[in-house]
Amino acid sequence: MSDHLDKTRNNRRDFDKDKLDGFIHEDPMLFFNQWYQDAHEKNAADPHAVVLSTVDKDGQPSSRIVYMRELLSEGFIIYTNYLSRKGSEILKNHKVAGLFYWDVLERQVRIEGEAVKIDSIISDDYFASRPRISQIGAWASEQSSEIDNRLSLEERVKHFEEKYPNEVPRPPHWGGYLIKPQYFEFWQGRLGRLHDRLCYQKEGDSWRQFRIAP
Ligand SMILES: Cc1cc2nc3c(=O)[nH]c(=O)nc-3n(C[C@H](O)[C@H](O)[C@H](O)COP(=O)(O)O)c2cc1C
Repeated sequence: MSDHLDKTRNNRRDFDKDKLDGFIHEDPMLFFNQWYQDAHEKNAADPHAVVLSTVDKDGQPSSRIVYMRELLSEGFIIYTNYLSRKGSEILKNHKVAGLFYWDVLERQVRIEGEAVKIDSIISDDYFASRPRISQIGAWASEQSSEIDNRLSLEERVKHFEEKYPNEVPRPPHWGGYLIKPQYFEFWQGRLGRLHDRLCYQKEGDSWRQFRIAP
C-alpha cells in the first residue's frame, strides 16, 4: 500500500439543508433555472461554473471548468477556443456532460447531452462585450497547445496588442457552444447519505421523470 498524503477519509459532513419531495416542473430547464436562481440568492461561489466533460477518440474522458454564459429554454451556452482540447474532442464526438455543484445548497445537477456550435453572430456579439484583455488573450493563447515558456505567451499578447490597437475582432477559432441536454439529474443532499436524486430523460419531445437510489 502506498503512503497516505492526507487522511481525507476523516473529512465527513452531513447534508440536511433541503429535500426533494417530487418533480417541481415538467420541463427540467425550468427546474434548473429555479435552482440556478437559488444559487444566486444564496451567494454560491461562481454559481455559473460548470464542469464540462468531453471524450477523445479512444474513449478517454477529460473535464474542466467553464462558465455558463447564457441560459436558454433549449440549453446553455459556453464560450471557448474551438481548437482547444475540448473543441477538438467535441468536433469528433458531440456528446458531453456538464456538472454544476452548489455547495451552499448541498445540490448538484448532472447534465448529459450534445454540444453544437452557435451562430457566429451570437459569438461576435458576446466577444465584443468582453474586456479588451480577454479579447487579446483569445488571439494570443493557442489554448491547450504546448508552449515553450510564459515569455512566449506574453510576447504573443504584445504582438496582438500592437496588431489591434483599437477594436479587436473575434478570432474565427473562438466562439460558443450550445449544450443541449438529453438527461438531467437533480441531486439534493440528505442525512445519512440517503440523498434525493430526481432524473429527467428526453424521449421524443417530452421528458420522462424518475427517481433513482442514492
Ligand atoms: C472558474 C473557471 C472558469 C473558467 N471558464 C472558462 C470558460 O468560460 N471558457 C474556457 O475556455 N475556459 C475556462 N476556464 C479554463 C478551463 O478550465 C480550461 O483550463 C481551458 O478551457 C482549457 O481546457 P482544455 O485544454 O481541456 O480545452 C475556466 C477555469 C476556471 C477555473
